Amino acid sequence: MAAPGTGILGFGAYTPERVFTNDDWSRYVDTSDEWITTRTGIKRRRFAADGENTVDMAEQAARIALASAGLAADDVAELIVATDTPEVYAPDSASFLQHRLGVGEVPAYDLAGSGCAGFLLGLDLARARALAHGGKVLVVGVELISRLMDWEDRNTCVLFGDAAGAAVVAAGAAPIQILAATAGTDGSKADILMREVGGTRSPFTLERAEAREHLDIAFHGREVFREAVSRMTQASHEVLRAAGVDPSEIDLVVPHQANLRILNAVANALKLPEEKFFVEVEEYGNTGSASVPLALYHAHQQGRIRSGDTVLLTAFGAGFHWAAVLLRFDAPPGA
Ligand code: UT7
Repeated sequence: MAAPGTGILGFGAYTPERVFTNDDWSRYVDTSDEWITTRTGIKRRRFAADGENTVDMAEQAARIALASAGLAADDVAELIVATDTPEVYAPDSASFLQHRLGVGEVPAYDLAGSGCAGFLLGLDLARARALAHGGKVLVVGVELISRLMDWEDRNTCVLFGDAAGAAVVAAGAAPIQILAATAGTDGSKADILMREVGGTRSPFTLERAEAREHLDIAFHGREVFREAVSRMTQASHEVLRAAGVDPSEIDLVVPHQANLRILNAVANALKLPEEKFFVEVEEYGNTGSASVPLALYHAHQQGRIRSGDTVLLTAFGAGFHWAAVLLRFDAPPGA
């Protein structure tokens, strides 16, 4: 449903310094730059430094978002952190981030388990909460997957990178209007992308740890690929319909950056030229719930978004979840 009257006041992102190339991966697992590049489009990704944790990265992105919105921590009325790689199991990363930023004693909570769709689900939730109480909601997407994945599983390890992104959402006039948002879930597909060990079904045991099962990501790559294309396309159509915007009016698509071939297939399904897709999967890999805000931040920094532009965000993630948000940049931050 269209929700006029909410918008984004500012955004920010952070990537760790350490660059890890495909050739670096070929020293750990039986893979090659050629395989990773042709199957995924990924060339490099960033990994957090030893001692750098989830909340450290979230804090960096959040501070940039607040500064770009011209806000102080005190101005934040609610805090949402989307992550599947939290600082500790409980409490949530939002609790640590609330304290670290010096935000008031406001509601703060994590959105966990929705994988790479987490940030857009958070954005959708934030606009509803901003409308409900009139305050400013800080939404962060952050993943530090390099520390929680199996460095010996070539099927998954080569795909991911670490990063954080953030946005501040508010009701009323904003330089970036949220024209519409949509989201959906198909839980019958829960098993195509799952991290199982650690929950009540398969609690941690010494045996499981010795077999490295706690790091397993069950992953049916081809099915995830198919669902990703179909659901990101569906979500895009739905959000455009909700806003009454024609696909030809889209100036830029900022999608979840999982795989270049997925993005090309979505462009094809939406009948949009590939040049309208902002793609940086080559540089950062799949950064999970950080991917969309990171790409949005870079698209703006690189001058790919101008005043008056209509920008489509779309993502999919474990669940199986999908979401899309349509933005109109009346005046990008710093304009
Ligand atoms: O948030 C997570 C989101 N995940 C995604 O978006 C991933 C969606 N899926 C994909 O992007 C693709 O399915 C992959 C990139 C994961 C795989 O591409 P594919 O074209 O579907 O490859 P495949 O599954 O058909 O695997 C082909 C071969 C297999 O060998 P065999 O069985 O044919 O001998 C794999 O064992 O490639 C092998 N393989 C590798 N070889 C070199 C798998 N990983 C690697 C690797 N290096 N890293």
